[in-house]
Amino acid sequence: MNKRFYITTAIDYVNGQPHLGHAYEKIIADVIARSRRSLGQEVFFLTGLDEHGQKVQQAAQAEKKDPQIYCDALAADWQAFAKKLELTNDDFVRTTQLRHKEFVQAILSKLNDAGHFYKKTYSGFYSTKEETFLTEKDRNPDGTFDPSYGEVVELKEENYYFKLGAHQQWLIEFIEANPTFIQPNYRRNEVLGFLKSQTLEDLCISRPASRLNWGIPIPFDKDFVTYVWFDALVNYISIAAAHGDKTVLSTVGNSQLSTLNPQLSLWPADIHVIGKDILKFHAVFWPIMLKAMGLPLPKQILVHGWWQKDGAKISKSTGNVIDPIAVINEWGLDAFRFYVLRELDIGPDGNWTDAGFRSRYQAELANGLGNLVNRSLSMLKRYRNGVVPARSNELAADAAKAADETRALFKQSQLQSALQSIWGLVNRANKYVDETAPFKLAKDPAQAQRLDEVLYNLAESCRVLAVLLNPFLPGTSAKIYAQLGLTGTPDKLADAIWGGLQPGATIGEPAALFPRKDEPKK
Ligand code: ME8
Ligand code: MG
Repeated sequence: MNKRFYITTAIDYVNGQPHLGHAYEKIIADVIARSRRSLGQEVFFLTGLDEHGQKVQQAAQAEKKDPQIYCDALAADWQAFAKKLELTNDDFVRTTQLRHKEFVQAILSKLNDAGHFYKKTYSGFYSTKEETFLTEKDRNPDGTFDPSYGEVVELKEENYYFKLGAHQQWLIEFIEANPTFIQPNYRRNEVLGFLKSQTLEDLCISRPASRLNWGIPIPFDKDFVTYVWFDALVNYISIAAAHGDKTVLSTVGNSQLSTLNPQLSLWPADIHVIGKDILKFHAVFWPIMLKAMGLPLPKQILVHGWWQKDGAKISKSTGNVIDPIAVINEWGLDAFRFYVLRELDIGPDGNWTDAGFRSRYQAELANGLGNLVNRSLSMLKRYRNGVVPARSNELAADAAKAADETRALFKQSQLQSALQSIWGLVNRANKYVDETAPFKLAKDPAQAQRLDEVLYNLAESCRVLAVLLNPFLPGTSAKIYAQLGLTGTPDKLADAIWGGLQPGATIGEPAALFPRKDEPKK
């Protein structure tokens, strides 16, 4: 059985509606998943929801709802949102599902039996908002705690701890030996800097059920529930186990867990896509948890930055938000997918402005890609009755360059650069229209053969673009294929090879791909 290319996203807290940041991360993962399928790989793409913990419990309480009922209602919205984004996820995990809870409990028992946990009493400070214990180190110079921790309370309680410290040196060596394990490099350096300058504190993996009961019960002590992060991170393997992954199942031993057919081979994950704020959980805690379980580490943690809007933090309380659904309804899904990936490379922080969005829509989608496809196909229709002329190879090298670059960039998850490469071909082809002036050629019967050449090069460039763009703009890509009169979907990068359009074939109906928005509707 072939191991699949296994890609995951962070699982989102269900304490509100999805926003731009959530959409961005899921689109990154979807485009990588689609690009790998386009390269011919078998892929498994997992996304989902993080439903336990204090944040969710409090959100449910605020609405006077039972937490499970609260989660069920919101989960429907989030699943609809995944559909709205046309995510090609193969499964959708909810951490309140039995398949996940049973697996977490099996792992806890195993680690406990192997002596990885101990119980101790802690007294000190606690941030409910971040569900984390704070120490003197976490104080600002003026003695306060950062506002991002929300209300900080003092408490004294007994809990279970996971021995992290013993693995610190091993982790440093692993990260040093595996330069692409954490990407981009500056995030890797950040983790190494942290690990080399601070002693890891053991991780508290429980919460007393008397204080917080919305969690997975600790199987060997009913007075406690599992700490939400220990529960959430495990989704990456609990779902692999549910699909029968042998590597993961073997770590639980001869288990009672039920598995689906067909059985898949998934672990280790190829890429965990996450945001910068949860790097420590994924690059420090998770690898050590896996090591304790005896499992191989994921191949890569790919860390994206955070979006702001108009230079300020996205925040519901100040109303500084972008509603992805409203943007998609107004501008179309592909325009939204395009903007977030073209505007922001995977790594740095980004800034959404409505003006920036409009300007890319106008320049790159409407005037760039849309205009190219529309005039190429309209001229073919007008001058040649929509019949594809004899093959000509004038733009073949430009198309091959874009295809080769795109292929290489897909393998490195360099999505913004891939779009730049693809637009290299869009711009080249638009320039070719200006240089060859087919509308003039059409007036001169002596230029009929030249016009045939130009029309073939343009139509074939549009076809190649449909193939290259498919992971990013699946709807637009399908429309281009249909307008070219082609059946099937342009979802294999191998089809980007020049010469796919057959002379003598008849194209379909040209129609605008990206209607102009600033002109009044006629
Ligand atoms: O952290 N821009 O959930 P979450 C870009 N449940 N990305 C953003 C963002 C922004 N403005 N705001 C949030 C959690 N994100 C945990 C994860 S994984 C085992 C558990 C990203 O709903 C954020 O960085 O707070 C994270 O990757 C994801 O959205 C979910 O955030
Ligand atoms: Mg968060």
